[in-house]
Order: sequence, then structure tokens, then C-alpha cells
Amino acid sequence: MHLPPLASALPVVLLSHRGPVTFTRDDDGDRTAGRGAGGLVTALTGLAGHLDHAVWVCVGASGEDAAVAREAAGSLVHLALDPEPRVLAHGDVPEGRTLLLRLVEVPPEVHDPFYGVISNPLLWFVQHRLHDLARTPSLGREDHRAFEQGYVVANQLAADAVVEQVEKAGGRAVVLLHDYHFYLVADLVRQRCPDALISHFVHIPWPGPDAWHVLPPDLRQRLLTGLLGADVVAFHTRADARAFVLCAQELLGLPVDLASMTVQTAGRRVRVRAYPISIDVPALEAVAHSDASDEHLVDLDHQVGEGSLVLRVDRTDPSKNIVRGFQAFDLMLSEHPELHGRVVFLALLQPSRQDVPEYASYLTEIGASATAVNAHHGTGAWQPVDLRFAHDMGLATAAYRRCDVLVVNAVADGMNLVAKEAVVLSERDMVLALSEATGAHDELGRFAVTLHPFDVAQQADALYEALTMPAQLRRDRREHAAWVVHRNDARRWLSAQLEDLAELAVTGDEASDAGHGE
Ligand code: F6P
Repeated sequence: MHLPPLASALPVVLLSHRGPVTFTRDDDGDRTAGRGAGGLVTALTGLAGHLDHAVWVCVGASGEDAAVAREAAGSLVHLALDPEPRVLAHGDVPEGRTLLLRLVEVPPEVHDPFYGVISNPLLWFVQHRLHDLARTPSLGREDHRAFEQGYVVANQLAADAVVEQVEKAGGRAVVLLHDYHFYLVADLVRQRCPDALISHFVHIPWPGPDAWHVLPPDLRQRLLTGLLGADVVAFHTRADARAFVLCAQELLGLPVDLASMTVQTAGRRVRVRAYPISIDVPALEAVAHSDASDEHLVDLDHQVGEGSLVLRVDRTDPSKNIVRGFQAFDLMLSEHPELHGRVVFLALLQPSRQDVPEYASYLTEIGASATAVNAHHGTGAWQPVDLRFAHDMGLATAAYRRCDVLVVNAVADGMNLVAKEAVVLSERDMVLALSEATGAHDELGRFAVTLHPFDVAQQADALYEALTMPAQLRRDRREHAAWVVHRNDARRWLSAQLEDLAELAVTGDEASDAGHGE
């Protein structure tokens, strides 16, 4: 793989909440390693092993991950990534990619409020605009405590680990911070490592200033100030980047320039940029060409026969809008009885964040709404909704290959990599039915049937349009969409960031602002 110059010029320190590997004990009590979950981790794992001198800092919060973090006690764990992740013993010389991992031990009394009170229910809900503002949020003493004793402390622990790695590298390193868990880290690292080049990538939507009024002024100001410790604050879309600049202006009163997408703060100029994340196409194709995927494909063919397959693949997150998706399917079946017995909606859902009450009740609603569709329309021979709780890439890739329509109707989504995976693997020129509120819609919307996430009637019409689209149009659109994904793959996403940081390293604050604001 061709590496961008910076990757070999400066050491790279990555930080994300989840890491490339997660540890468990098997039935014999032996420690085993498996791949970490989530789109961000998948994209980064594919690339990080190709970076020279990369150290990936992540949290070892519970179970075996915490045990490994404790045993490592701050030293690095050497991982082989291929074909599956495993810890290398001293002297092991692996084939394939390797990575150095730094696990940060975050004790449960810190991690629970950090992750289960602030990061997921509060920040995730603010940024995806999921609150029901007449009722939620209702911030009490416990929430304020959770911020101070959970979020702030976890950010300090993560920053300590990052700083240690940067110092070991001589103080000059590229620091790539990720996501909403760590908005305070950039500023903490800058204070102690002034020569580091810091980028913070926000992977979830960034709403405009009004949405942030849900948070107390002190809290939102600290989050924004923390992020502005970075040299570059990055998002998946230009709209999110622009909203961030407006927040800096309106919520912090800082001078900003929307033409160059910069914020002036503490004598520095912070660049705000958009780099749309993508998928690792060869890695995905390798899974899709596996025996497991082929076997699932045979089963799906048998199940659907000559009929059509509508598919969704999601975590059971309220932002994914799964219940309205089933309601739209229900409506479409009511209005088009000619489709009865000829279409199946397969929902492959991964239960997520079940310790957060809103997520637990949403899972119940999902089950009830799928049952309702089957009760309205199902027969002994045909169940219109096939709801499966699973996280199985063999099955997911088979379903991508076989489906006729992929539904992504998210209320809000930073990018949505499922849409990109499906257009690349489709073997039947599937139609993408894609929410206008996803980052992916910027790139793929013109090849998709657009969904309006709150309009169930529109979604029903759009599903029908997708299912009845003429073959040639399906082919043209699917091929164009796949071409866009192949061209702007995960490697290009990371290279563009590293190239911009390399330019910044050379030119400093005087850098031309003509760069990658697009
Ligand atoms: O960027 C959002 C993200 O971090 C994705 O990587 C992933 O889809 C999801 O959130 C993971 O959430 P969690 O780590 O809470 O399961």
C-alpha cells in the first residue's frame, strides 16, 4: 500500500473509545481476542496497521478488556491483525499487519457515568436531536456529577495515555482523536504537548447552536473549548463542519471565517474540515467471498425465491428510526396488496447499549412494531417481516448481495457505512432508499430514492418506487454509487487528513486556507 508521506514522517497516536480488538475468555478459560465493533473501528483497523509507528489508545472498560489493561499497566500490547487479531508474544514475527495497542483502564465508577450517562444518553441524544424536549433531558445533580466525575475524569485518563505516547515519540507526533467520548482531550494534550499536531474527528452529526442550548452554558462551552484545542476539527459533511464554526461563533463568541472555515482562538487558527469516511472495499469483499457468506446466500435465495428482499442492517439505536421503517412497510403493504406474498423485509439488528433505558425500551418497540406488521398482513405461508437480532458479517454480506432494496431511514447519522457496503456488494442492482439526514446522502443521494425520516407516508411511497424501479435505472444508479464508493474509499479518507496535517506541519498557521474544506 502506498503511504502518504506523513505516515512515515511522524509517529501517529490514535485515540478512540473502542479499539481494534476486544478480549474474552472461552469455555476453557483461555483468553481470546476478537475484532472490535462499530464502523469507526472497522475503518480505522483496516488502515492503522499500514501506518508506520502507530499506537492506538483505547479504553479497556469491563471484563477481559479491563483485565488486559490492568496487566499491561501502561505498557504497549503488540497485536497481529491478520487474519484475525491476536496478541503477539515476545519474539513472535507475524506475517501481515501489526499494531501497538495502549489500553487505558477506566474504573467502572468512572466509566459508567462517562459512557452510560453523558456520552450516550446525553451527547448522542443532543447531536442526533433525539430528545423529547417537553420532557427530556432533565438534568439533575446526578448528571452534573456524572459529567465531572465520569466524563471529565475519563477524558483526563485518556489524555494522560496519549500524552505519554507523544512524549515517548519526542513530543512531535500526529494525534488523531475520535468521537464524542473525548471532546476534552485535544485541549489537555495541547497544554502538555505544544508541538503535537492534533486532529479531532467527530463521527456523529454536529447540530447548529440552538440544539446545544439543551446543555448548560458551562458544559457546552467546556466541550467546545476542549475540541478547539485541536489544530483541525473534522466531520463527515460540510454541513456539520459549518454548524461547528457557527457554534464557536455564537456559543463562545469567537471570531470565525466561514470562507476559510477557521476559528480564531487563543492566538491560534483552528481549521474545520470535512472528510467523508468510507469503507475498506477489499476487506469487505474478502468477507463477501467467504464460504459463510455463500451459505447464507443459498438460504436467503431459498427463503425469498422469486420475490423481492428489502433489507436493513443496523444497531438498535433510536437514531436509526427502525420503528417508522416498519410502519412505512406496513402502509405500503396496505396500499399495494399486489405485493403480498412477494416481498420480505429482513431486518438484521444488533442490540446496542442495553444498559441505557432509552435503548432498552426502543428494542421492545422494535419487536412490537415488527410483530404488528406480521399480524396485519402475514399468512401461514408468508411473514412479511423477518426480524433477526444478530451481528454476523457473513449473513450481512449475503443479504447485501441478495437484496433488492436497502433501507436507511435514520433520523440523523454522521455517515452510515451500511449504505456504502451494500452498493458495493449488491449482485442484483439493489436500490438504495436513503435518508436525507445521513452523511452518506451527500455522496450517494443522487443515486438513491430519498427518504424523509419523519414522514412515514413518504417512506411508504419511496419503498414502492424502489421496489418497482425499471431494471436499467437500477443498474445505472447502483453502478454509479459503487464507483463513488470505490473512488473515495477509507484509505483516501485517512490520506486526505494526513496530507492536510503534513501541510500544516510545514506551513504552520500561515498555511493556505484553500485546502480540503470541501
Ligand atoms: O461514530 C459513532 C460510533 O462510535 C460508531 O463507530 C459505532 O457505530 C457506534 O458509535 C458505536 O457505539 P458503541 O461503541 O457505543 O457501541
